[in-house]
Amino acid sequence: LSRRSFLGTTGAAMVGAAVSMSSVEALAAGGKQGPLNLVEKIFEAHRVGGELKTGKMIALKVDQVMNHDINGMAWLEFEAIGLDTVKVPFAISFVDHNMLQTDYMNPDDHIFMQTAAAKFGAHFSRPGNGVCHQVHLERFAAPGKIYFGTDSHTPTAGGMGMIAIGVGGLDVAAMFAGMPFEFNMPKVVQIKLTGNLQRPYVTAMDVILTILQKLSVKGGVGKIIEYSGPGVANLTLTERATITNMGAELGATTSIFPSDEQTRKFLKAQGREKEWKALAADPGAQYDQTIEIDLSKLEPMIALPWSPDKVVPIRTVAGKKVNQVCIGSCTNSSYGMMKTVATMLKGNTVDEMVSLLINPGSRQVYSMLAKDGSVADMIQSGARMLESGCGPCIGMGAAPGSGQVSVRSYNRNFKGRSGTKDAQVYLASPISCAAMALKGEIIDPRDAGIKVPMVAEPAQYLINDSMIVKPKKDRSKIKIVRGPNIKPLPVKEALRDTIAATTLLKVGDNITTDAIMPSGAKVLPLRMNIPKISEHVFESVDKTFASRAMALKDKGGSIIVGGDNYGQGSSREHAALAPMYLGVQAVIAKNIARIHNSNLINFGILPLMFKSDEDYKRVAQGDELVIRNVIKNVKGSQTYEVENKTQGYTFTVVSKLNVREQEIMV
Ligand code: F3S
Repeated sequence: LSRRSFLGTTGAAMVGAAVSMSSVEALAAGGKQGPLNLVEKIFEAHRVGGELKTGKMIALKVDQVMNHDINGMAWLEFEAIGLDTVKVPFAISFVDHNMLQTDYMNPDDHIFMQTAAAKFGAHFSRPGNGVCHQVHLERFAAPGKIYFGTDSHTPTAGGMGMIAIGVGGLDVAAMFAGMPFEFNMPKVVQIKLTGNLQRPYVTAMDVILTILQKLSVKGGVGKIIEYSGPGVANLTLTERATITNMGAELGATTSIFPSDEQTRKFLKAQGREKEWKALAADPGAQYDQTIEIDLSKLEPMIALPWSPDKVVPIRTVAGKKVNQVCIGSCTNSSYGMMKTVATMLKGNTVDEMVSLLINPGSRQVYSMLAKDGSVADMIQSGARMLESGCGPCIGMGAAPGSGQVSVRSYNRNFKGRSGTKDAQVYLASPISCAAMALKGEIIDPRDAGIKVPMVAEPAQYLINDSMIVKPKKDRSKIKIVRGPNIKPLPVKEALRDTIAATTLLKVGDNITTDAIMPSGAKVLPLRMNIPKISEHVFESVDKTFASRAMALKDKGGSIIVGGDNYGQGSSREHAALAPMYLGVQAVIAKNIARIHNSNLINFGILPLMFKSDEDYKRVAQGDELVIRNVIKNVKGSQTYEVENKTQGYTFTVVSKLNVREQEIMV
């Protein structure tokens, strides 16, 4: 494998680190005796290094890898590695997030991705084919496999009984190159389900909202959630996928269900029954923690603005007027659920003050709804049909008006993500959403007086993969098309041994990657143009951040101070790459969310943690900080003395880098 450097030392170090791990630490005696839980079983079947032990480094062989158009840059990164073909058994690129074509930029990005995927031997899901997670579930997910993608909701495929994890684009580039994935083995938490949902009013969305209410957006950090118990058999595969999708909102590494008859039924309906196998934990398997949930006790829930864990029963907030309702996305787009919504809307009229937007998650579901007349029923009721893509979920069109109330069957309601900073975004099930669209107010669907049918998933889906372009045998003549919006990757300077920089920004807890690097129609088209997109970093928090950072770039650079769970939310690597471009040297936070932490490492920004909350409180925006002996400490004690020159005191911070991450950093 070529060690050609990209992003300065970082990319080569990353690939080098992966190579050394896989070859030196070949399958050691890192297995585990006794009964295994489902996560351990799949990990053990893929382990190529390290140990199957909580907190210890493990290296896993990867079966499937995906990137989508927000992280189309993974192809630039892969290109810099110097291979002419992907080395992973299955690679795919999706265009689903950024579909607006108001000028040349997005279409230029799409054709770049399509031709790069074609050149390097990956599949390509064309714009209009659907949201990556829904399409992957339908056509490619299979029990027992390991799948990584450049999106925090990659765990949707965990509903299929596979390990599916969201990572950054540079990690995906390395996996396209055939590298195993290495990380510290997370804890495995068992959620034992009993009982049966009170259908039709209580749905899978209400299950995961209830779990979010219990555990919070930090409850899954450092953990994989494994569902088990007698209640599992009562959930369809698509219901499971809704639950694992929003495991991302818990901060969990991923979530997984066993593979059983429900799994077989879905695969059979997708014409893929031969990919099925039964998979479950061994009797007596151990877990780091067990939580029990009785499905029959759940009720319709809603997440309040602006966090998916601010969950309450809908009845407690009923009566508030609603301006916009959005149904669909990667979270709630099964055919059964969409058809249920259509049947609720049929013959009824959407409230005159509500704009109802529907974005079915895949072309398969959309076509089936069109064929059976559901789309007509939706349109007749007053719904505005969008194409199969992320759409309003990522602020691409359909922003609510100022201060308006938008209720969505999506997974995220962070401030500003909708495109309107002060919009009040709520999250609820598609059934609850449909009831609210008709009634014009927040209402529990049980109180809405609307008939809700029980629509089952079909025994046969409509299969047509013509919008998935397969790799060609002879790729020698394929040229990658690069429009003017495709700019070269910026080069990262080597990590400094002394970081002497200004605390450019101090923020509080739960800062999202959306807050660091906004999405939306204005910003997303710039995703392969780092100098331009960098102008938007932190713009909703501090409009002057980017210009102030640029002014300091050649004068020592800057440091960001964050609170708890810094960088939660999406896997957006631009939230690290753009600050890197602006000269950010380090992030010091109480705690940094997993994917963002690895993105910071991948792009050479040192992620540091306060040892005490008092130190977080004391440091102020504008303080000049000096961190010495950085290189030695990254590889050694991982403890650093920080001199606050402005206030005249010293405090201690730590990093928590594993061996591979240390090699990437220095
Ligand atoms: Fe797209 Fe929203 Fe899902 S941005 S991948 S529909 S979380």
